[in-house]
Amino acid sequence: MTDDNPYRLVGQMTLGDPFVGRAELLRKVQSCWRGQGRPGNLSIQGSHRMGKTSLVSRAAEIDGDSRENLLFVRLSVGDHESGTDLFRAVVRETHHELGSSTSPGAAPYRRVLDQLAMDVAKQTEWFELAETVRTFFTYLGRSDMSVVVILDEFDRASQVFGRLADFQFLRTLASEAFSPIGLVTVSRRPIDVVEIDAVGGSTLDGVLSLRCNVGCFSDTDIDEMLGRAEQAGIDLRARKDEITHITGGHPYLLGLLCCEIVHRFHYSATVDIRLAYSGLIPQFETQFKVLARSLDAATGNRGKDLLWRVSQNRDDTIPAIDVDLMRRLGLLSPDVGQICLFSNKFAHFVQRLVQSGPE
Ligand SMILES: Nc1ncnc2c1ncn2[C@@H]1O[C@H](COP(=O)(O)OP(=O)(O)OP(=O)(O)O)[C@@H](O)[C@H]1O
Ligand SMILES: [Mg+2]
Repeated sequence: MTDDNPYRLVGQMTLGDPFVGRAELLRKVQSCWRGQGRPGNLSIQGSHRMGKTSLVSRAAEIDGDSRENLLFVRLSVGDHESGTDLFRAVVRETHHELGSSTSPGAAPYRRVLDQLAMDVAKQTEWFELAETVRTFFTYLGRSDMSVVVILDEFDRASQVFGRLADFQFLRTLASEAFSPIGLVTVSRRPIDVVEIDAVGGSTLDGVLSLRCNVGCFSDTDIDEMLGRAEQAGIDLRARKDEITHITGGHPYLLGLLCCEIVHRFHYSATVDIRLAYSGLIPQFETQFKVLARSLDAATGNRGKDLLWRVSQNRDDTIPAIDVDLMRRLGLLSPDVGQICLFSNKFAHFVQRLVQSGPE
């Protein structure tokens, strides 16, 4: 027996070897920047802890060195105080990545780009800053370079972007011909909802036409995740039904339970799934609550009623648009032939939620 716990990184952004499955979603994300020329735009959406950040980061990791004239920049919107601050960071990080690029096309433009990046860092007036950012990306485009700008935690744009001009400028950078940017947003809510929150009208939604929804793991992904336990000398695939009864294909909850099972196995030499779960109940409850709230937020507080109908097999009374939304939020089993909640423990949570009455 080894002390290695292949799930010890649970909770962190997953890259490299620990990253499991998602073959189809990876292809979808990569297709937006594979091929020559300017990358496309993409909106990645999914519920809490479904693996959005891991997916886009893994895709960028795989293709990071695939084209010498393609750069990747990933920023978390929530780390910035204002739109101005964020645009400045986009230029700073792009310029930084350019520094390690070997593309011959960039060489003649390096001095002017260095100067523009320095100017952007100093400017505080919005108009001046926007003009310099625009000029920076115009020259970058002329040098035959492209950049994929990944804006994670895009939900926070509602607070960080204080005015329409910020969304409008992002739209300009993501859509106009001078710009070599492909924009990838990562959010829990749809773009028009994020944007409406801030300013009352969507300008970005139309240019982020490609969507990628990140929900629960597929059956094959679950098998791969459970298979990782072999490194610790355990066959968790043989216990798949018991485990998915608790976690479904929720990547974070599955990782959390597997981690605890292996951890306990190391000192007791037994695989006790119920005991492992009992120590994790508060963490599961927190996730379940967050998932239920996200449905409430997306449906004007109809979440509890919708979840209840599914748990009572009354899905024929639910409009197709709500079923689609629940599937996209990862609340339903990914099996399209069946409309049921993603795990039995989540179904028990829904029962308790309904019995507890209005909050
Ligand atoms: N492909 C994967 N392989 C293995 N584990 C994964 C994978 N995707 C997600 N996980 C697990 O789920 C957790 C949450 O992943 P991640 O942070 O990427 O989700 P997220 O959707 O970006 O979350 P948030 O909504 O909080 O931003 C990870 O810490 C990891 O434990
Ligand atoms: Mg994330």
